[in-house]
Amino acid sequence: MDLLVVGGGGREHAIIKKLRENDKVEHIYALPGNGGIAADAECIGIDAKDIDSIAKFAQEHQIDFAIVAPDDPLVLGAVDKLHALGIPCFGPESSAAMIEGSKSFAKELMQKYGIPTADYTVIDSYEAAKKYLDNAEYPLVIKADGLALGKGVFIIEDQETALATAQRILVDKMFGTSGDKIVIEEFLTGPEVSVLAFTDGHTIVPMVSSMDHKRAQDGDKGLNTGGMGTVAPNPYYTDEVAQRCMDEIFVPTVKAMVEEGRPFKGCLYFGLMLTAKGPKVIEYNCRFGDPETQVVLPLLESDLLDIMMAVEEERLSQMKIKFKDGASCCVIMASEGYPQSYQTGYPITDNSPADAIVYHAGTKLVDGQVVTSGGRVLGVTAVADDLPTAINKAYAAVAKIDFANAYYRHDIGQRALKALQNK
Ligand code: AMP
Ligand code: GLY
Repeated sequence: MDLLVVGGGGREHAIIKKLRENDKVEHIYALPGNGGIAADAECIGIDAKDIDSIAKFAQEHQIDFAIVAPDDPLVLGAVDKLHALGIPCFGPESSAAMIEGSKSFAKELMQKYGIPTADYTVIDSYEAAKKYLDNAEYPLVIKADGLALGKGVFIIEDQETALATAQRILVDKMFGTSGDKIVIEEFLTGPEVSVLAFTDGHTIVPMVSSMDHKRAQDGDKGLNTGGMGTVAPNPYYTDEVAQRCMDEIFVPTVKAMVEEGRPFKGCLYFGLMLTAKGPKVIEYNCRFGDPETQVVLPLLESDLLDIMMAVEEERLSQMKIKFKDGASCCVIMASEGYPQSYQTGYPITDNSPADAIVYHAGTKLVDGQVVTSGGRVLGVTAVADDLPTAINKAYAAVAKIDFANAYYRHDIGQRALKALQNK
């Protein structure tokens, strides 16, 4: 089979490496891929948001199955377009991808179907924001309605900052039309859990849970990023919590989407907070998480392509999906300065041992040499029988990788280790 994978980050590298394990796979095209993906797939210089060119390429190359991984092309309708050409795909159509594409849509869905989430209000003008914020309780959370590269969420401590933030999003348009509306939310507290789940619109099969580390610096300080590292499984996600999430969140969400005429097929990502009042949804994503995928897929024992095809053909209920026991850890090596400004173009030397997996995110090939080309550069991952060993192996590999301006957190997995010790 000839496959096409849309995207070019660490998540896509993890997906491609996993797909390679299937003997039926002959050729994988990555659009656009990156410097490391080039070792596992043929990279084609088509931007992930250029859905007309993606569809044209898929048709011309008689692609048997396409996987659309990032949020932008999903929200823009890449899967709709490929389906119209008769090409089977993994990923939701645009109407279902709205669950991530519009936070106000997601919040209204949860309210309508009684799915637990933070209390909220949707606001579309600065005047209305000002009126609301005059009487609000702090801290609170302000979110841009649309996609904002994970940078559209602000935890706000006081009214002055709230007004300034509303001004920047609604009036100054710091996120363009993604900020035509804002969602103002109640501030929740509790451990966070990421759960990725396969769903074909009827059946939902959660994958092993994981824990992201979103802040840039050790000790969860600094700015929010796309994610600086992950571990799986997440020790806070006990069997009891998992059952509650299944009954109160996962199944109701899948049913709600069918009810709304937007059946969701693909990977549905639940960003959860385990509050004193039970698990609540912080956010939905319409795709695999990054860097959650880099710790979840290495633990998947079943065949990824078989599952993806079963999702597309709506026969997920017939599949047995197995995950390995044990744990995994992914440490993101970034360019110093990320998530703000940073310099790139530096050669990477990788002498990491063979028992680590180095997923490439922001890299490119220049004259046969892999160089840095983005904020998040590598996702250095290790799998082991237990979490402490996985963490040690991942950091041992990081120590053997070198590039100028490399930056990474030193405490990925430490919170999970503490939670395990307190169990
Ligand atoms: P999101 O992009 O929606 O996942 O938000 C990014 C991060 O902001 C989350 O991982 C949480 O740590 C935090 N966050 C978002 N919404 C809330 C909330 N209602 N209460 C507390 N923290 C939140
Ligand atoms: N790591 C969070 C995300 O993929 O949105």
